[in-house]
Amino acid sequence: MAVHVALTGATGFLGLRLLRRLLDTHRSVTVLAHAGSGDALHRIVRFFELTGSAPAFTDALPERLRVVETDLAQPRLGLPERAFHELADTIGALWHSAGSINLEEDLPELRRTNVEGTRHVLELAAAGRLRPRVHHVSTAFVAGARRDGVAYEDELDDACGFENAYERSKYEAELLVHDWSRTHGRPVVVLRPSILVTDLPPHPELPSHPLQVIERILREARGSTGAGGQRAGAPDIRPRVRMVGHPHGRLNLLQVEHAAEVMVRLAARPPSSGVDTYHVVHDRDVPVTTLVDVLQRLVPLSVELVASRPGAPTALEALLDFYPGTTAYLAHRRRFDDTRVRALLGASATSAPVGADYLRAGLAPRARTVPVPPGGAAAPRSVRCA
Ligand SMILES: NC(=O)c1ccc[n+]([C@@H]2O[C@H](COP(=O)([O-])OP(=O)(O)OC[C@H]3O[C@@H](n4cnc5c(N)ncnc54)[C@H](OP(=O)(O)O)[C@@H]3O)[C@@H](O)[C@H]2O)c1
Repeated sequence: MAVHVALTGATGFLGLRLLRRLLDTHRSVTVLAHAGSGDALHRIVRFFELTGSAPAFTDALPERLRVVETDLAQPRLGLPERAFHELADTIGALWHSAGSINLEEDLPELRRTNVEGTRHVLELAAAGRLRPRVHHVSTAFVAGARRDGVAYEDELDDACGFENAYERSKYEAELLVHDWSRTHGRPVVVLRPSILVTDLPPHPELPSHPLQVIERILREARGSTGAGGQRAGAPDIRPRVRMVGHPHGRLNLLQVEHAAEVMVRLAARPPSSGVDTYHVVHDRDVPVTTLVDVLQRLVPLSVELVASRPGAPTALEALLDFYPGTTAYLAHRRRFDDTRVRALLGASATSAPVGADYLRAGLAPRARTVPVPPGGAAAPRSVRCA
């Protein structure tokens, strides 16, 4: 394929899978790596080695990847002016997957990476004489704090507010994309995945993913309240923790490999003249109770979903209160409409179910599970912000 493609965020959880897909159809890819964040080429090669790629493929990577060290937060991505323009002129398609997905980071910091970062990437696209096609990775969670009802692909507003600064920063980045497309008369594809998951067990050389972060928060909170130290042979006393959530809550979780495949296929479609936005989501949501059950098997806690914050929280509950932007998702019951994706890709956009076994595999290094009483789930809904 003649078009040369550049990718930001290629060392990330999603970016590595996008890179894998792009290398199926492109002889070479320019990796716009995070300057000062470790040897990107080595990390990429290790990912492919650890995930079973053929030696012939991994051996060829140093020759197929051109790594350019960049910093999203800096004007011209931190490059000298001449290098910036030389880079811009080589790019025929620009994938922007880099960003901070830290749900607990503060807004100014997230804006630097996610909003200013997007601005600088768009400046690169504007500077290139080949007028590169832009593929911007957003999130279905720009829908914000509306917990019920249906979020549509053509919606972009802040009417319901946001659960956390991450959502707001991604929303603001999408506004920039629309503005840029209008100003420059250029098409942009906006891809909005839901929560991405894997069944690949955690490994120190692999990027972590959002559910791993939640599992870590629970584990560390349990440990730091002293509830973790149990004598061998002692009965399993699971501290009870009340968390705000809906018993009929549900979340959209999608296999990261499938998401990358769908995204690359969507980006290959002829664009419209403006912004084409797609929800890259699973057709079946996962009950929050399933997720809670998976987490309870990994962290010895007994989670009780309650309608509102407990008046007299235990030490453990108070600790978890530091993560309201993360735990809010346990109360979500909304659905993401993906009519556009289904209209273009049909049944091939459908992926295998995401079940408890799949989720557990992606969270536990070994068979590190503990027995819990069985839970159940269902899922009605209504339309309002919270
Ligand atoms: N993971 C999900 O469930 C999910 C769901 C919906 C949408 N998304 C979106 O998908 C995109 C990729 O997410 P991910 O899961 O791959 O995240 P990730 O694993 O945290 O990867 C983030 C990537 O961005 C790079 N990066 C961060 N700060 C940078 C900077 N200042 N300059 C240059 N590069 C920088 C990182 O490089 P280093 O690793 O070297 O720091 C890494 O390659 C994000 O835009 C995110 O909002 C993700």
